[in-house]
Amino acid sequence: MKDFLIAPSILSADFARLGEEVDKVLAAGADVVHFDVMDNHYVPNLTFGAPVCQALRDYGITAPIDVHLMVKPVDRIIPDFAKAGASMVTFHAEASEHIDRTLQLIKEHDMKAGLVFNPATPLHHLDYVMDKLDMILLMSVNPGFGGQSFIPTTLDKLRAVRERIDASGRDIRLEIDGGVKANNIADVAEAGADMFVAGSAIFGQPDYKAAIDEMRAELAK
Ligand code: DX5
Ligand code: ZN
Repeated sequence: MKDFLIAPSILSADFARLGEEVDKVLAAGADVVHFDVMDNHYVPNLTFGAPVCQALRDYGITAPIDVHLMVKPVDRIIPDFAKAGASMVTFHAEASEHIDRTLQLIKEHDMKAGLVFNPATPLHHLDYVMDKLDMILLMSVNPGFGGQSFIPTTLDKLRAVRERIDASGRDIRLEIDGGVKANNIADVAEAGADMFVAGSAIFGQPDYKAAIDEMRAELAK
């Protein structure tokens, strides 16, 4: 089977018991912790920042933490996340004044770097930065909230990005975020994604292992 990563979004976890929730979802078979940072400015919602990432590390979480920055400006908090133990950082093309500089800043702090595209953001931002990317994240909902429905046109966009990654010959993860569930994950993988964020589809279920197992079974078909 291909090397697929499942990244539960803790946006849908019980914040009052965050450490336990993350432990539980990792024990259930998750590969990566997806960490949604929202600033009530770039997106109309407010979540958590680097101190919460640090708290998860202090609690003993050793799995990779995938920080999805939905903040503007971006650069100022990148060093904070490096210090707090983040493994990879993605940011939105529209939120950075200087995309190339932001990518370099992430890499200078020894984290993996990725660019995020909203559903209506064109792909031309990729044109001159493929050599600096470790990951590309396509949003399949408009950012800001968990529990929204997958926007179907994202499948064509995934195919277009998959072609660009393959043509580049580089090892770049293609991450999908928003409305991913067991009933669409196979289509999303077929279109080229290899890293799957799921919030409500995992934390909204009573049995996290059953939810993740069902996704992996769909991916294995
Ligand atoms: C939305 C966030 C997502 C969100 C996904 O802005 O980036 O990571 O939590 O939640 P679901 O899987 O419920 O759509
Ligand atoms: Zn996210």
